[in-house]
Amino acid sequence: MTAIPSATSLDDLKRLAAVAAHEMGNSLAAIIATAQLLRASAHDPAVIARLADRIETIARQMVDAISDLKVLGATPRREHGVCLNELVREAAERVLPIAQKDGLRLELDLDPALPTLACDRRGVTRVLINLIKNALEAARGATTEPVVVRSRRRGPFASITVYNLGKPIPPGVREQIFKPFFSTKPHGSGLGLFISREIVVDGHNGAISFHSGPRLGTAFCVKLPLEG
Ligand SMILES: Nc1ncnc2c1ncn2[C@@H]1O[C@H](COP(=O)(O)OP(=O)(O)OP(=O)(O)O)[C@@H](O)[C@H]1O
Ligand SMILES: [Mg+2]
Repeated sequence: MTAIPSATSLDDLKRLAAVAAHEMGNSLAAIIATAQLLRASAHDPAVIARLADRIETIARQMVDAISDLKVLGATPRREHGVCLNELVREAAERVLPIAQKDGLRLELDLDPALPTLACDRRGVTRVLINLIKNALEAARGATTEPVVVRSRRRGPFASITVYNLGKPIPPGVREQIFKPFFSTKPHGSGLGLFISREIVVDGHNGAISFHSGPRLGTAFCVKLPLEG
């Protein structure tokens, strides 16, 4: 597993704001261009459906990116007695339409005896959504094996691991995936892992690591301290 250090300075935040504005601008430009194409092809139902799909995909990605930024900007609200398995189920429900659209299954392997933790429910749920979405996106078209989310107790930590088969993360890409706005996807904002790491490491004194290999697939593991 590769451990990821965390560091955020005012300069990083300024850069983040500038790139966020740039990326949002690009997404809106893509929506405008697609809407114009849509108007021009108002007679062909198949083209209309495809273009409407494209607009929806871009807009949903923007909604997700904005939700991530909102969590990043907010003061974490820690609650006691949070059941991590419940947050996994909530996140799984959120991403289920993506899995269904791609004909992929999501398997939850949750430890029923997992003790509770003190955490920001909204933040941790965003982390889980980001990791499961990434796993589904990596599995899409590459495997029919399910994406698996596993919760376990590891000493004083609760661990959540998200596994998928599919293409592994190439060596040159591995060093970059936690950088803000780094994405290998045509419409990815590249914020998912950056913000997840901030929430886990800075927000909860936890750890996030990953492993990726040709036969094993990819596993992202989040560790969060248990209460007490
Ligand atoms: N499970 C995975 N398998 C393979 N590559 C992955 C996986 N998770 C992340 N990555 C790589 O890490 C990059 C950064 O991920 P991140 O979630 O930060 O952004 P994104 O998924 O590209 O965009 P966004 O999450 O904003 O929609 C991805 O573009 C992809 O190249
Ligand atoms: Mg992502």
